[in-house]
Amino acid sequence: MKWMCSVSLVVALTLQPAFAESLIGPHALTPEARDAFVTDLLKKMTLDEKIGQLRLLSVGPDNPKKAIREMIKHGQVGAIFNTVTRPDIRVMQDQAMQLSRLKIPLFFAYDVVHGQRTVFPIPLGLAASWDLDAVAEVGRISAYEAADDGLNMTWAPMVDVTREPRWGRVSEGFGEDTYLTSQMGRTMVTSMQGKSPADRYSVMTSVKHFAAYGAVEGGREYNTVDMSPQRLAQDYLPPYKAALDAGSGGVMVALISLNGVPATANSWLLKDLLRDDWKFKGITISDHGAIKELIKHGVARDPQDAVRIAIQSGVNMSMSDEFYSKYLPGLVKSGAVSEQEIDDAARHVLNVKYDMGLFNDPYSHLGPKSSDPLDTNAESRLHRQQARDVARKSIVLLKNRLETLPLKKTGTIALIGPLADSQRDIMGSWSAAGVASQSVTVLQGIKNATAGKATVLYAKGANITDNKGVQDFLNIYEKSVTIDPHSPQEMLDEAVTTAKKSDVVVAVVGEAQGMAHEASSRSDITLPPGQLALIDALKATGKPLVLVLMNGRPLALVKENMQADALLETWFSGTEGGNAIADVLFGDYNPSGKLPISFPRSVGQIPIYYNHLNTGRPYDANHPDKYTSHYYDAVNGPLFPFGYGLSYTTFKVSPVTLSSKTMPHNGTVNASVTVTNTGRRDGATVVQMYLHDEVASISRPVQELKGFKRIMLKAGETKTVTFPIDVNDLMFWNARMQQVAEPGEFNVMIGLDSVHTNSAEFDYL
Ligand code: NOJ
Repeated sequence: MKWMCSVSLVVALTLQPAFAESLIGPHALTPEARDAFVTDLLKKMTLDEKIGQLRLLSVGPDNPKKAIREMIKHGQVGAIFNTVTRPDIRVMQDQAMQLSRLKIPLFFAYDVVHGQRTVFPIPLGLAASWDLDAVAEVGRISAYEAADDGLNMTWAPMVDVTREPRWGRVSEGFGEDTYLTSQMGRTMVTSMQGKSPADRYSVMTSVKHFAAYGAVEGGREYNTVDMSPQRLAQDYLPPYKAALDAGSGGVMVALISLNGVPATANSWLLKDLLRDDWKFKGITISDHGAIKELIKHGVARDPQDAVRIAIQSGVNMSMSDEFYSKYLPGLVKSGAVSEQEIDDAARHVLNVKYDMGLFNDPYSHLGPKSSDPLDTNAESRLHRQQARDVARKSIVLLKNRLETLPLKKTGTIALIGPLADSQRDIMGSWSAAGVASQSVTVLQGIKNATAGKATVLYAKGANITDNKGVQDFLNIYEKSVTIDPHSPQEMLDEAVTTAKKSDVVVAVVGEAQGMAHEASSRSDITLPPGQLALIDALKATGKPLVLVLMNGRPLALVKENMQADALLETWFSGTEGGNAIADVLFGDYNPSGKLPISFPRSVGQIPIYYNHLNTGRPYDANHPDKYTSHYYDAVNGPLFPFGYGLSYTTFKVSPVTLSSKTMPHNGTVNASVTVTNTGRRDGATVVQMYLHDEVASISRPVQELKGFKRIMLKAGETKTVTFPIDVNDLMFWNARMQQVAEPGEFNVMIGLDSVHTNSAEFDYL
């Protein structure tokens, strides 16, 4: 829609030549050749072999390696996930290619969400960069490393729009905005799939979780979603559509129920919308164990019923679920499911295998045994420089009183906090095949930056949490949180003594990676009490206080914002996080990130999002009125709004000029501003364009992001930024669920965040 996307596409497709290498085999990779090949293959397959193709398995206690190999040999497995080394993958592929009757290759998948061996910032952080070129680079490198490990598919991108900071998976998505999420998701798909998922260094994407998982009630994981068709179509569906239009070969089905119908049983979602309206030709995959969950959802009576409903609703492949293989044969026999329905599902699986080039070369992502890396996490396999660059771009400066930042590389710096020296936490959730021992902590990053120039003193100061219940929760599957042998008071005392010896205090506080993950919903989004006490004690020393936040969701930080002299949001920034954070702290990089989600003042304000409706009684702070829409014990607005983020320089945005005061039917209008760097440093910023349909047949949001451009300005430099606006930007779903652009007045707002904008109006004729 906007020129920004074409830039990212070009970058995605023109990266290093090795990425572009493509596979030429005996089968032409065209839809026609594929259909003929798959039709022919299906004719040769038994019912059991077809059902086998619908199974996606993971090695684990229920399915040990040996048992899986037997199943592969008997044609009972279609694909494998969670196996991530070439030797392990090769053994399984050998089993299929050498011992199974029809020698149908397996495909191999994994959650490559923000990197594979190199871990990049979590997707929420990537979104904070508003930099599609950087995100394309993350996609290319992630796909490169994943394909180099032998993988063919990733369970990404996750494009679940969410207005729910309580939901742990907010960390895995691109925030609260439909347009930004669509741009990010599309860029991930085009960059990971490259020219073709069959290429040596591409992987097929599987966009998830279809649909509207991010709207779980109360932010509680796996909970129900209930929403109007208009909101679903307008705000939640477009990012999935954008990812599919970009060519994503897979769709993962959400675990939730939507308006009472579980997504796994939702034929409207998976057939009418996805296949008939959107013309999706790829594969649908259930989420983990979702088919059996139809019984607990209360829509299936028993396992047979669950299987029948899932397959007939359009779920092609089952993930970690023995139900398809166990019950489909009987269901076909009894006539409850037709063989044609099995054929349709198996065809989709075989189609994507064909698109992955697996029928040309089942080992295309493996190469010869002799080429296997001796050390899967060898330094030479990492892309550190790119990880550092992207991480710097994802960091958001929230406050900088009296230019506390950047810090000088002299004197004594106290580095305090439970996250200051944590290699595991900085990688964030879904850190795939990355290993913690390779990540750079903030302590290490600061030491690297100041070596020989400043003294760095470190004290942990507090545990991530002193709540035994939360500690146990975080340590359920792996020992991820270590509790210090010293008492909280001893730790606090040590931190205060350290702070007093220093010129400035940098405290790294926030969440452990396990606090912002799947199955990690919180009812309270403040910092844990031990960390709050630490901040109080550090503040009391009177030293300049820099708070470095490491977290996977918006936190409520009203008091901390008042206490801190500078506040830096770093998310979970990945393998090179510590170096990137140091780059920003010392001014070697001027921060340019902008929030992709509103930061509430308290949990009581949730849901809080910038593109809300006005209501019939909007609150006006200049003329407060009791009978207007507000809380009497809190202000309406967030602590930090969507799109917000500071820089070490300052920018000025001119008034908006329009190419015309009217937009003809189906025509365009260009909206322009000039942006000047009015400070003393070079810096980048993100110019954001919002629209408001002033009078329409249904209430329209007070503003909606419709374009953005990241620009770099030298000190004193001015640039003009122009946003073309066309009818697509004015469209919405009306009360009759028709997508329309209604004639009338539109307000164009342009600024460097969603609150401080300049505006102009045009008429759509
Ligand atoms: C469950 C999660 O919901 C999904 O996002 C993930 O891809 C699968 N598990 C596989 O790990």
